[in-house]
Amino acid sequence: MIKRKVVISGVNSGIGYATALIFAKDGYQIFGVDLADEANSSLKLKIKTLGSDLVYYKCDVANSQEVRQFYENLNTEIDVLVNNAGILGPRVKTEDYPIDAFDKILDINIKGVFYMTKFGITHLKKDANGAIINVASVAGLVGMTNHIAYSASKHAVVGMTKTLALEYAKKGIRVNAVCPGFTDTAMVETANLEKEYKEGLKYGTPMKRFGEAEEIAAGIFYLASTNASFITGHCLTIDGGITAQ
Ligand SMILES: NC(=O)c1ccc[n+]([C@@H]2O[C@H](COP(=O)([O-])OP(=O)(O)OC[C@H]3O[C@@H](n4cnc5c(N)ncnc54)[C@H](O)[C@@H]3O)[C@@H](O)[C@H]2O)c1
Repeated sequence: MIKRKVVISGVNSGIGYATALIFAKDGYQIFGVDLADEANSSLKLKIKTLGSDLVYYKCDVANSQEVRQFYENLNTEIDVLVNNAGILGPRVKTEDYPIDAFDKILDINIKGVFYMTKFGITHLKKDANGAIINVASVAGLVGMTNHIAYSASKHAVVGMTKTLALEYAKKGIRVNAVCPGFTDTAMVETANLEKEYKEGLKYGTPMKRFGEAEEIAAGIFYLASTNASFITGHCLTIDGGITAQ
């Protein structure tokens, strides 16, 4: 049987890791991209146990040359692209926000999606079954105090999602985004957030908890599936009710 193929950026951790597993469970061949020299060994093993395969490439999505090279090396058609790699950056009010941090976040979170899509879209099969899913955030729909760059970058991801959906609708490629709320991953864990602030984030979520990476991956997988065959240009919030308030 010919396996469907998915490219996932930021595959080594959190939402990317969980996304790789849910696609592997469905028999997909996984092509993963991240910054480390090697694939996450536990992920590689789990995917193998599921009877699938992870082919890993070290690639900085913010570097156009590395992304172009990645697709040249990939040298195969794919069915799905998941633009997941992203960073949060510091929690600082705008007047004190470091300019280099602002630039870095926009480079990874915006240009990373642009480069991975610009060079990758010609690799998507033209069989009316192709899908791109961008991992945006609730911070792409509403403001996020003290996170000016992150919020700007995720609003841009939502804008790119809608534009790509329009450009490629006739070519059989659907383009959607997920907008997660606070999710229990290394991003939140390593963000140096004070305990009280983190508790406040949970308290401010109507469901009174963080999401799990698997819950975000399930939304990504749905948007890639034929069950979502008439959905394009959509931003699916998976946020425990944050944006319903
Ligand atoms: N965790 C949350 O609360 C949350 C909420 C909303 C949206 N998101 C988004 O989900 C996505 C995944 O985040 P996560 O929570 O799983 O975080 P994570 O830190 O666990 O994983 C992010 C992965 O992306 C990789 N990465 C970072 N910069 C990269 C680059 N330049 N090139 C290639 N890979 C790179 C990291 O090495 C890491 O493996 C991000 O786009 C993030 O903005 C997360």
